[in-house]
Amino acid sequence: MIHLTRRRLLQLGLALPLPMVLAACDDQPGPGPSAGPATTQGPATTAAASGGTLAPTPACDDGDDPTPAQTEGPYFTPNSPQRASLVEAGMGGRRLVVAGTVLTTGCRPVGRALLDFWQADDAGQYDNQGYRLRGHQFSDADGGWRLETIVPGLYTGRTRHIHVMVQAPDGPVLTTQLYFPGEPENDRDGIFSPELLLSDVRDTAGTRRGSFTFVLEG
Ligand SMILES: [Fe+2]
Repeated sequence: MIHLTRRRLLQLGLALPLPMVLAACDDQPGPGPSAGPATTQGPATTAAASGGTLAPTPACDDGDDPTPAQTEGPYFTPNSPQRASLVEAGMGGRRLVVAGTVLTTGCRPVGRALLDFWQADDAGQYDNQGYRLRGHQFSDADGGWRLETIVPGLYTGRTRHIHVMVQAPDGPVLTTQLYFPGEPENDRDGIFSPELLLSDVRDTAGTRRGSFTFVLEG
């Protein structure tokens, strides 16, 4: 059975009826039904409040697990340019906008966190000579970040993914990967982790959108 953190279950469960969400959380450690980080807990808070029998939902769950690390892989290039958009003229592939927040496990926003993204193009190729589809940015004072890019293509042996390093100021580097829900290859990729799935993925006006909350030790 695949282990999911309570935060992840809540993120996945926002579209489920509240009893199903709570049932899914019953076997998880922690102080009972509560929402995840502030950026993801809105609908759950509303549902809990309307239930009338639950304790007030905390603004933040201090017991959240940090975002798990994953292998860097062979294609990281240091010193990427600072840019929030990796899209260049003539670049193929569906546009993708991913936005989110960097939080500590204590639910504090991490401002000026470094986020360095790299990914394959729509044909599954990495640019290992230059910096195409590579770039870093810093979170804002609220821990917010936003990446404009394209949906990465598949390459042999891997499901669809985006690589990222995240580092709080003077903190350790978290190296991990982000994944897309509903991908047939997810179940065949030994590196894939459901805890690293983008949330709230939808297609609007030709652009795919999603979100992710990084949780760093601290
Ligand atoms: Fe990769």
